[in-house]
Amino acid sequence: MSFPMVRLSRLRASDTLRSMVRETTLEVTDLIAPLFVHHADNIRNPIASMPGQFQLSVDNAAEYAKQLFDLGIRSVLLFGIPTQKDPVGSDTWDDNNGVIQRALRALKQAAPDMLLITDVCFCEYTNHGHCGVLTKRNGEKVIDHDATLENLALQVASHAKAGADMVAPSGMIDGAVGTIREALDGTGFSHVPIMAYAAKYASSFYGPFRDAAEGAPEFGDRRSYQMDVANAGEALREVELDIAEGADIVMVKPALAYLDIIRDARQRFPGVPLAAYNVSGEYTMVKLMAERGYADEKQLVLENLTAITRAGTDIILTYHLRDILKHGWLDD
Ligand code: PBG
Repeated sequence: MSFPMVRLSRLRASDTLRSMVRETTLEVTDLIAPLFVHHADNIRNPIASMPGQFQLSVDNAAEYAKQLFDLGIRSVLLFGIPTQKDPVGSDTWDDNNGVIQRALRALKQAAPDMLLITDVCFCEYTNHGHCGVLTKRNGEKVIDHDATLENLALQVASHAKAGADMVAPSGMIDGAVGTIREALDGTGFSHVPIMAYAAKYASSFYGPFRDAAEGAPEFGDRRSYQMDVANAGEALREVELDIAEGADIVMVKPALAYLDIIRDARQRFPGVPLAAYNVSGEYTMVKLMAERGYADEKQLVLENLTAITRAGTDIILTYHLRDILKHGWLDD
């Protein structure tokens, strides 16, 4: 059968018809909001590169988390800006004074039912801004993956002790997921799930985040450990390895320029929960376009998040979440 008997526009004629045949719907329960926690007191710094986002001190972050929970947000991903940076990022395993450990305790108290996920990495905590321990190879400073694994084990055990409900390793360190699973299991936290940044690309779309989390590399870039933008097959190997090492959720990052990777991962691993990170640059592009009046912010946000979901995700990490709920953008 074909035109004129078939007219696909018939089912587009009204809101009722369109919503009846809609294939993809966004659910607030599938969305996670990132939060930036600053070590100092009384901090509420607007992040210039990410309009509408803030660095918050521990007490303000706790208060904010409670507000987010009341708005309907059920889960947050925590990033920390520590007091002191050193070559190994030891703030990440400081049980008492680590910025994330302090944040976990305060947020648990303020919003007991909020799911607290920690970003597990070192770039915000090292003075060189790279995602692990450095070593020299042929006179050049490079990441020492194996030495970094030992510190990842310390970091996740400390996060779990302080109340992390889930950990999310983002450093693209070989073997991280297996090491983290063992570390959690060995310290009494076998119930804590891992959301692995499995296929994380060396992307320019992280630009605004570097400002937000103060984790820009002091020299060079991250191309020797994050994935080459040009590769798709390799992403499936990364995802497959992380599943084999015990990842409970796998993530593709960034989202919008990598919808093909999301689709590939969904098709190859149909039963595995799949997340995508709608990253800082993707957020700021929308904010700037809306600010200048080039397009409607609600429509842009819903189009982007619907596209990511349509590609095959179950979960999206997005800085837009507070705006979505505050303005009721999912209500109709
Ligand atoms: C690493 C980390 C980064 C992001 C999340 N975790 C920065 C990087 O890899 O350079 C980027 C998130 C974003 O751009 O929104 N700790």
